[in-house]
Amino acid sequence: MARCRWRQTFLSLSSLCICMALLFIYICITVHSNINMAFITAKYLAKSTHFVASGNYKPTEYSPLWKNFWKENEEAFWNHLQLDLDRHFNPILNAHHAQQFDSDKDLKDSFLKHTHLEVTALDSMKKKFEQLPQNLQDFVSHMGQRDFPVLLQPPYSKCGAGEDEANLTPLVLLAIKTSEQNFKNRQAIRETWGQAGLVIVHRRSNTRKWEIRVHVRRVFLLGKDNKQKLDNQNAELAMESRRYQDILQWDFDDTFFNLTLKDVLFWNWFSASCTNTRFIFKGDDDIFVNTPNVITYLSDLLLEPHPEHNLNDFMVGSVIKRAFPNRLNDSKYFVSETFFTGRYPAYAGGGGILYSGQLAKRLHGISSTVHLFPIDDVFVGMCMARLNLNLIHHPAILTFDFPKGEEKKPCAYHTIFLVHKRSPKQIIELWGKMTKTLGQCWNKPLRKW
Ligand SMILES: *[C@@H]1O[C@H](CO)[C@@H](O)[C@H](O)[C@H]1NC(C)=O
Ligand SMILES: *[C@@H]1O[C@H](CO)[C@@H](O)[C@H](O)[C@H]1NC(C)=O
Repeated sequence: MARCRWRQTFLSLSSLCICMALLFIYICITVHSNINMAFITAKYLAKSTHFVASGNYKPTEYSPLWKNFWKENEEAFWNHLQLDLDRHFNPILNAHHAQQFDSDKDLKDSFLKHTHLEVTALDSMKKKFEQLPQNLQDFVSHMGQRDFPVLLQPPYSKCGAGEDEANLTPLVLLAIKTSEQNFKNRQAIRETWGQAGLVIVHRRSNTRKWEIRVHVRRVFLLGKDNKQKLDNQNAELAMESRRYQDILQWDFDDTFFNLTLKDVLFWNWFSASCTNTRFIFKGDDDIFVNTPNVITYLSDLLLEPHPEHNLNDFMVGSVIKRAFPNRLNDSKYFVSETFFTGRYPAYAGGGGILYSGQLAKRLHGISSTVHLFPIDDVFVGMCMARLNLNLIHHPAILTFDFPKGEEKKPCAYHTIFLVHKRSPKQIIELWGKMTKTLGQCWNKPLRKW
């Protein structure tokens, strides 16, 4: 009898132990592998196949997605901040917050400020702060704030310049980063590749001719030029804004390290003002864009099966993978080891990118879970990594100009989406030339390498 009772106790005790051990192992594994990304990725894990857009050459060359591309240490400023923020968003550590995250953007934004205050107040971080170069110090001091007021914007609920009718579905919004003094760039763009309204693209094949009719919108993204006095600075720009209705300006200094704010605030504005715009082309004001090629490409995408589903993830650019931060202290991209350690996630280099309106809204949501990063393109890559999404590389986006000698070929500009670094004067000349050679170059395909 006694032996039997002892066996029963032993059995129940050992099964309890096994249960506890299993639970412990489970918790360890979950916490360890997912500590930062659990709640963010859970929603998207179910979908494992990635949409491959036409024109993407080597789909096998996709880089593996990096869940945590940054090093999880508390040595560097940004890494420490992000680690702190991730703890707030961790569903295991902060279960009571988890349900609210999806809906409550203010709550998420308050974590950004909170972790920023918390980390910058640490003695170890104060010492590191002093070692940062001046521009990074400036960045760090302000990186907790991202709710800058709008100074100028297109008329209420109007998604940039273009037609006003509510029932139109614009194919693409051209969102161009510029600065106050670059009026010439804006004007050249308005007159050439950046025309808004109804745009008609003429196409032909060996057997037929047809036209693509789409609606295009345009908006310029600006901060404030701090060299000018507050009062008179806005007079000219305000006039420009009234005339073209394509100026979107916020109240922050328009410096290189503040460019990330333009993306974050643009997503915010877009989510509120551009309900039915299908695509965004985001570019700089010193690029030449073959808009007919972009329009043809995007219209073709909409003809593929299940566009709504595919476009949820859609971003195309000139993709840079597994890059290390620039450690040369005389470069404008310099990021010191005291600020960031680890590699950058895959990101699209400067010049221009194409992505869907649906994705812009998702980026808007996720951006509150990533601390601002001084290099804007890298920040967008970080948000994409957080959404567990791959960027699609397209060889027709030339961030680093044509390969030597190729530009001279008469149809070179007909084979691209865009090329970086062209002056306003060049933009106007190139646009004229491109229009003239349409007949001669109609059958040139997009670049493939
Ligand atoms: C960004 O803009 C804010 C607000 O105008 C300014 O205080 C800050 O110095 C700017 N940051 C950088 C790195 O230039
Ligand atoms: C930049 O780096 C060089 C060599 O690494 C160093 O000698 C120099 O002091 C640095 N300059 C600044 C401003 O930190």
